[in-house]
Amino acid sequence: MASFTVNGRDYNLDIDPDTPLLWVLRDELRLTGTKFGCGVSQCGACTVMLDGMPRRACVTPVSMVEGSDITTIEGVESREAKAVQAAWTALDVPQCGWCQSGQILSAAALLQDNPKPTDEDIDHAMAGNLCRCATYVRIRKAIHEAAKTLEG
Ligand code: FES
Ligand code: FES
Repeated sequence: MASFTVNGRDYNLDIDPDTPLLWVLRDELRLTGTKFGCGVSQCGACTVMLDGMPRRACVTPVSMVEGSDITTIEGVESREAKAVQAAWTALDVPQCGWCQSGQILSAAALLQDNPKPTDEDIDHAMAGNLCRCATYVRIRKAIHEAAKTLEG
């Protein structure tokens, strides 16, 4: 049995404790916004928020999230995440889109910790989120844009 909250909803699932959280989200809960990229914590496509911190769902067994509060791209509601999503839309960041839910969650987590990141801060914080379409320049721009919006 595994018990946790996803996007504000409580779940009790009868599931193998070794099952990666990514597959629980996608296959059991049908929350397919969280993507599979590499499966070995190298690309960031599967990033979710676990108790407020970004986490790679592909290498997180469901046994490790017992009692935790998980937020996926479908449920992000923080001020930072909303500002990031608005900037993403305004600057037309995504290309194929595959990596983008992970990028958005990592960007929101960065702005929670550091409301005014430099280019270097952004490159450092986002280094674990790969984009095969190389949207990095737009991502960086959009994070600056979101930071400006949050400044008010
Ligand atoms: S699919 Fe999890 S880091 Fe690549
Ligand atoms: S937008 Fe295509 S992988 Fe990033």
